[in-house]
Amino acid sequence: MEIRIERAAQLKAKPDPSTLGFGKIFTDHMFIMEYEAGKGWYDARIVPFGPFPIHPASTALHYGSEIFEGLKAYRRADGKVQMFRPIENIRRMNNSAERLCLPQIPEDLAMEILTTFVDYEKDWTPSAPGTSLYLRPFMFGNDETLGVHAVHHATYMIIASPVGSYYKEGINPVKIMIEAEDVRAVRGGTGYAKCGGNYAASNRAGQKAEQKGYAQVLWLDGVERKYIEEVGAMNVMFKINGEIVTPALTGSILPGITRKSCIEVLKSKGFKVSERLLSIDELAQAMADGTLEEAWGCGTAAVVSPIGELCYKDQIFTVNGGKIGEVTQMLYDTLTGIQWGKLEDSFGWTQLIG
Ligand code: PLP
Ligand code: COI
Repeated sequence: MEIRIERAAQLKAKPDPSTLGFGKIFTDHMFIMEYEAGKGWYDARIVPFGPFPIHPASTALHYGSEIFEGLKAYRRADGKVQMFRPIENIRRMNNSAERLCLPQIPEDLAMEILTTFVDYEKDWTPSAPGTSLYLRPFMFGNDETLGVHAVHHATYMIIASPVGSYYKEGINPVKIMIEAEDVRAVRGGTGYAKCGGNYAASNRAGQKAEQKGYAQVLWLDGVERKYIEEVGAMNVMFKINGEIVTPALTGSILPGITRKSCIEVLKSKGFKVSERLLSIDELAQAMADGTLEEAWGCGTAAVVSPIGELCYKDQIFTVNGGKIGEVTQMLYDTLTGIQWGKLEDSFGWTQLIG
């Protein structure tokens, strides 16, 4: 597909790496294209980054018809830029689109768009340790009517943001509160899709945890409030009695690409990994009898985030003495090593730009 390019009249100065943070600064351009039922995708263009007009009745604004993705481009020591498993994000976006009755983007087209856009903005990929260019593809229903139905018109965009190291002083164990009231998603709902509404629904519990001094919540399942699902906006893994346990993908959990990568790395190193139901009672027992050896969250933004403390119904449990565990550290070092091109990519996960 032809991608029209409208270059920004003035390019912005690149930020000082120490000021980056997460998702506060954006590159010079953005990608945008339209979809109409019966016509397909059209008018693909890279234009100057900035606000754009939207109809006040647009579906996304009223009925939450929105999905997104998150992946990163990394600057290697040789100056080249690479993405990590972008095809996985493209496939997950189409799965999310199917759930929300938004249109599919053929994989080849989605990859062509992503690589063209990242190539165009690649100078924005920072090189300081731990920094990267966060890519945020998103799609929303854009019918100009208040009728509730599957959309006829959609808009697909990509914006990009240079981001800092998620943790300023290396990776530090965080405190997590087990949420026993609010749930993030339910089976049959949209938990496996990366749609904006899931995040809106999780804010109240996140805010409550923050007010109590916790970094994030550990979500339980929406039916029995019994089985562990995710931690904040990350997947979660535990080392119990030498075995790695992570909740099975039952429909209400987002199938994380970091999760999948952790499992593949762990299996390649001979660990036993069980994707299964893990109840809060089993976890509480493992915390009480000391067989819970490590716990961590995993996702694109933080890669791997060790859990140092878990609070359940006002009982506080310390994990691994509040220190980062060996397996957690190994996963962090292996994934970040591959992502920044410091370790050989024996899995074939990285994709060079240009
Ligand atoms: N779970 C949720 C709810 C998320 O938003 C994310 C972040 O993207 C993840 C898990 C981790 O997914 P990934 O590893 O693909 O970033
Ligand atoms: C992640 O990358 O782990 C995230 O959860 C992204 C978040 C900003 C939605």
